[in-house]
Amino acid sequence: MNPEQKPPLVLRIQDLLVHYDTGPAPVVAVNRISFDVHRGEILGLVGESGCGKSTTAMAILRLLQPPGRVVGGRVLLDDTDVLKLGPAALRAFRWRRVALIPQGAMNALNPVMRIRRQLADAIAAHANANGRAALRARIGELMDLVGLPERVGDLFPHELSGGMKQRVCIAMAVALNPPLVIADEPTSALDVVVQRLVAMNLLNIKNTLGNAMILIGHDMGLMAQLTDRVAVMYAGAMVEIAPTRAIFGRPMHPYTQQLIESVPSIKVKKALRVFPGGPPDLRNLPPGCPFAPRCGCIGPQCEKKIPPLRECAPNHWMACHRHDE
Ligand SMILES: Nc1ncnc2c1ncn2[C@@H]1O[C@H](COP(=O)(O)OP(=O)(O)OP(=O)(O)O)[C@@H](O)[C@H]1O
Ligand SMILES: [Mg+2]
Repeated sequence: MNPEQKPPLVLRIQDLLVHYDTGPAPVVAVNRISFDVHRGEILGLVGESGCGKSTTAMAILRLLQPPGRVVGGRVLLDDTDVLKLGPAALRAFRWRRVALIPQGAMNALNPVMRIRRQLADAIAAHANANGRAALRARIGELMDLVGLPERVGDLFPHELSGGMKQRVCIAMAVALNPPLVIADEPTSALDVVVQRLVAMNLLNIKNTLGNAMILIGHDMGLMAQLTDRVAVMYAGAMVEIAPTRAIFGRPMHPYTQQLIESVPSIKVKKALRVFPGGPPDLRNLPPGCPFAPRCGCIGPQCEKKIPPLRECAPNHWMACHRHDE
């Protein structure tokens, strides 16, 4: 694709480095990753458990709690350098410019407060609510947007199913029309039917509001259906970013290839592939490519030098020495 044709940039992450300072050596949870998000696109962020997806999301919103801390890099949201914002500017930026649906969000709803009140509080805390009628109307619009009947506003969280609770959390996140929404595993812990409903909800919101989204998850089927591009992380590093069609049709990084191959198919009966070994210790990363110890095709450079992320086909970025050889 001609770079001129890309929609405007919403988010640019440059060399983001995040540590958890525990013990003598830090846990390098996010290891100098870079990526962009454009207006109106859904970027999927995938990778096995512990690879740094949630840490990346929390770092973008400056929500990391000690011992987590951003050690280096830049987070640019439009022209705002998020890592340099003071406390007041940061409060104005969260929810208004970027909203997070955190992992396990639905369990964080206040159990003793009706849904309508929780939505009203979320709106009022971050925007000037223009009177009760306007607030009520906005809540109605939001419930409609996530496909919930208005009467749900009168209920308490325990009266809602998991899918309904998750949709309330999505409504809260988009209440102020933020140009970027980060959804951290919004469909895990839901049954497959409800998963689809919530996923379609997210797509509907993106199409209605035209915002950009980072969708974090493990479900490759859902990623294939919902996202425009997919970014693959491994052991804190970004190993491949490409349009969804290319990731599934022609994955280039050996880790992405194994990730796609391990998705079961009902059309083709094949033995389920199990990944040999496990991810490296993030306190003691190998000197070269973090995937080298599990990779089936390593070359002379792989155990010595970290491969940089390079554009190896138009719009297709990958970090592997094999491609450089
Ligand atoms: N508070 C903490 N203290 C120390 N290490 C942490 C802390 N939180 C996360 N980590 C480590 O940082 C790494 C990245 O964690 P993160 O939660 O970002 O992974 P993830 O990709 O979101 O995983 P999952 O798919 O299971 O949600 C993991 O190795 C984890 O053990
Ligand atoms: Mg996570």
